[in-house]
Amino acid sequence: MDDLHQPWLEDAIQRVRTGTQLVPRVGIILGSGLGGFAAQVIADTTVPYSAIPGLPVSTAIGHKGQLTLGRFFGHEVAVLEGRFHLYEGYSADQVVRPVHLLKALGVEVLLATNAAGGLNPDYRVGDVVVVEDHVNMMWTKPGVGAGENSPGEFYDRELVERALAASRAAGVIPQSGVYVGMTGPNYETRAEYRWLRQIGDLVGMSTVPEVITARSLGMQVLALSVVSNACNPDSLEPTDGAHVVAAVAKAEGRIREIVRGVLDREA
Ligand code: HPA
Repeated sequence: MDDLHQPWLEDAIQRVRTGTQLVPRVGIILGSGLGGFAAQVIADTTVPYSAIPGLPVSTAIGHKGQLTLGRFFGHEVAVLEGRFHLYEGYSADQVVRPVHLLKALGVEVLLATNAAGGLNPDYRVGDVVVVEDHVNMMWTKPGVGAGENSPGEFYDRELVERALAASRAAGVIPQSGVYVGMTGPNYETRAEYRWLRQIGDLVGMSTVPEVITARSLGMQVLALSVVSNACNPDSLEPTDGAHVVAAVAKAEGRIREIVRGVLDREA
């Protein structure tokens, strides 16, 4: 799909550009419970999704639903507070519209954050894990046509290394893992967690469609997961959206330090 010719996109760009001419090189998608991150951004403009033509309405818990263009410790960024999920009933094409918008605003590097269940028994709630690869169980590949192959490595090796170095510098145990994207909306059963542990380290309901789209648009991609619940099939604790948001909010400072470290290490 030629993203610059989606009819809604021109109107959306025009709306955002009424507030600023800043051209952000970096786009940041904030997952559930990470809204506090945005307070660190000195905003040129903030636009609610409801005012941006073509964007769906954000309904998920812990998602504010607004776009800010501004500066994060001197780096020009576009920050999406809140994302769209397949489990909200949106199509894959709707879910990835914000990524097309970022691209059209000038973004070359996508930093996607999310809350995820920790499948890897070494992970603790609140850990920040750098995503090194994914398994797509979401039955959809936006931006990639039938018969086309995936464009190879989705997660930029250099950015992964930088994120691990930034973790170390922030006093965080550097960890990387494989993210399994599920459609939800329910969290998984014991049997599903047992199976998912064979194929990945993290499980969540977002990010994969955005990453596939970003790569198909030529962006470099980094994804960071905050472990919001431990998916131990033999001693499963009840969890829900509110637990996830609360657990992730505690990791907001670490995410901020790692993102800052990654951007400071840009050439
Ligand atoms: N499963 C799926 N998605 C999630 C989970 C989970 O356990 N935790 C946070 N997002």
